[in-house]
Parts: sequence; C-alpha cells; structure tokens
Amino acid sequence: MNQTVVSLRDRQYSVYFQNDMKHGENWIRHHVQRQILIITNAEVANLFLEKFVRTLPSTHVVETYYVPDGEQAKSLTHYEAIIKYLIENHYHRDTTLIGLGGGVIGDLTGFVAATYCRGVPYIHIPTTLLAQVDSSIGGKTGINHVLGKNMMGAVYQPTAVGIFYEVLLTLPERAYIAGLAEVVKYGLIQDAHFFEWIEQNTHKIRARDQVALMYLIQHCCEIKAGIVAQDEHDHGVRRLLNFGHTFGHALEAASEYSLYLHGEAVSLGMVMASRMSNELGYLSSSECLRIEQLLINLSLPVKLFEPISIRPLRDLMARDKKNSSTDPCFILLDGIGKAKLVYKVSSNLINKVVISCHESALVD
Ligand code: NAD
Ligand code: GLY
Repeated sequence: MNQTVVSLRDRQYSVYFQNDMKHGENWIRHHVQRQILIITNAEVANLFLEKFVRTLPSTHVVETYYVPDGEQAKSLTHYEAIIKYLIENHYHRDTTLIGLGGGVIGDLTGFVAATYCRGVPYIHIPTTLLAQVDSSIGGKTGINHVLGKNMMGAVYQPTAVGIFYEVLLTLPERAYIAGLAEVVKYGLIQDAHFFEWIEQNTHKIRARDQVALMYLIQHCCEIKAGIVAQDEHDHGVRRLLNFGHTFGHALEAASEYSLYLHGEAVSLGMVMASRMSNELGYLSSSECLRIEQLLINLSLPVKLFEPISIRPLRDLMARDKKNSSTDPCFILLDGIGKAKLVYKVSSNLINKVVISCHESALVD
C-alpha cells in the first residue's frame, strides 16, 4: 500500500492510496475510536456506504448522518443540525467522525470535528477527484456564509486520509473534469514538469486511465503535503494554493453557489489570473495561451457561463480571506511553474480580465 506522510511541526498523518476500498480495513482500524459517525450524502452512500462500513471494526458503534447533496450542505444550518445530533445522541470525545464524500462533505465534517467538544478526531475518505488531490489534505475545514465562501472555519488536521481510486469510476463527468482544475493548478504554481506531463497525457486523463490517475493523484498529494508541511496555517507559501481562487470564490458566491462547480470557478479564475499576469508582464502571451489550451483540452471552462456584474464580484473579492486590507490579494504567475502574491491591482485591470472572459460582463 502506498502512502504519503503529511509532516507537521507537532504531528504527522498518512494519506493511504489503494485501488479497492475493501483494503482500507488494513489501516482504518488503527485510526478509529469506539464510537464512529460517518457523515455523507445519499448519492455517495448509495454507491459506497455498505462497502465502506465493512472496513470498520465490527466491535465499534457505527452510525451514519446524511446531509443534502451539494454546496448547500456547507452551511450553518447543517453544521448546527449535526452538532445537535451529536449532543442528543451522547457522542463524547471517544468519537471519530468520518467524512465519506467530496470536498463539501470533507470541509463540513472537518469543521464539525474541529469544534465539537473542542475537537474530536476525523478521517477523510474523499470520493471526488477534487477532494482526493486537494481538499482532503491539509486540514482546511469550513462552511460558507451568504456573504462569502468558507468564511467560517478552522485549520484542523485529519487523523488519516484514505484515497481509493475505484471510487472515481462512478464520478459524473462534470465533477471529474472540475477536479482537474486543481490538478492543473499544482503544475502552474510550482511544477512546470508536471504541467507538461498533464499536456502530454490529456487523453489518458480524460479516459480515467488507472495508471495515469494513480500517478497524477499521488503526485498532487505529495505537492500538497509538502506545501502544508512548510506552512500549515496559511501565512506564506500555502497561499499560493489559492491560485485562481480569488476570482473563483467570488464567482461561486456571486452566483449563490448554483452556477459553477468549485473546480469550474477555479478554472475561470486561473484564466483571469493568467491574463492578469500577462497584462502585468509576468507571464508571456504564449504561456498564457498554452495554459488556456490545456484547460480547453481538458474540457474545463475558459469563458463565463453567463454575463456577470463586476462590481459585486469586486466587493466579494475585497472580503476574501487572504486580504490584509480591502485590497484583494491575487496569486499571479511568474511563468508556468512559479507563483507569487500581488496585492495592488487596479480596478480597471480586474474589470479588463473579467470582461475578457465574457464580452457582455457589466462593469457596474
Ligand atoms: P462535491 O463534494 O459537491 O461533490 C461533487 C458531486 O459528486 C456531488 O454531487 C457528490 O454527491 C458527488 N459524488 C461524490 N463522490 C462521488 C462518486 N465517487 N461517484 C459519484 N458521485 C459522487 O464537490 P467537490 O468538487 O468534491 O468539492 C467542492 C468543495 O470542496 C467546495 O466546497 C470547495 O470549497 C471545497 N474545497 C476545499 C478545499 C480545502 O482545502 N478544504 C480545497 C478545494 C476545494
Ligand atoms: N486548497 C487550498 C489549501 O489547502 O490551502
């Protein structure tokens, strides 16, 4: 069984890579406490819950809590309902929470774990590509507020992460493609060779070729683990993982989390941030085109789905968590494979790159 270790200052945990979920029993039993609550949704549960429960020790108490599918589950309402369920059903600190699902389930489960009884252990079983390559590692947990994405949360690390490649076979095409945006992001911010590998293996990636996927997922997890090890609390290099996310999160919130999948918004955000990097002279036009061509080849969006008003988008960006004042912070590219933070960007340039992604975007 392959594993990647996330080494933090005061502790470490493993990300386990296996094809078949049934092999999870080899490691899961070492990480669970007496009382287990699996948090999932009906879609994921129908596919994997029965098989997953068989990996847990039969001596333990195992129950399941269901939240609705989709981004709406990352809300105060559902967070509070889970806390109420835990209290009413006498869950104590000898509880392990398990998030079985995509990034939404993972972020929500992690935030409940971070706050219930001032913290109980949790395990991630990410079932989307996006969650396997990104959200399940690094302990960023949280829920949304109508005024902004992930505005309530905590950095709280899981006890272990279990990646099973087989779960990706049932993932709807749109969700699978959306996850590829975070994959491309890793190449862009720190690994030009990996970016090139993605370019050369687009067909295999699109076809979900198992060998290509195993390499791709493990490589992304290693990059992420390395970045988190250097900067667990997001004060420095970890911020670069937000390439494309300043625009992306604002696009998601502006459309009330209903128009774009997270990865689609990140793809558009990466196009805007690349064009901004080009306008500021950090990224050549040919590199900018190369990035967009790869996104197109992977069927990721490079054009907004609908016209948008830019002023509300700029207001949302001004509230982004990365900002130190109301100046939105952008992660820009200094060439493919190298990223940097830039704080002072004119409103005109923000308008220009958004308009470049939809000719009917409205400035006010
Ligand atoms: P998601 O969790 O909504 O899952 C996408 C869809 O796929 C859902 O309908 C889900 O039910 C379904 N699904 C999940 N696994 C499946 C499977 N194996 N087969 C069939 N259907 C399956 O979306 P996502 O893209 O995984 O996650 C997006 C969320 O992740 C966003 O809220 C984003 O903010 C968050 N995120 C967090 C971090 C972090 O570091 N914490 C990083 C990136 C993204
Ligand atoms: N997905 C961004 C981070 O983990 O920092």
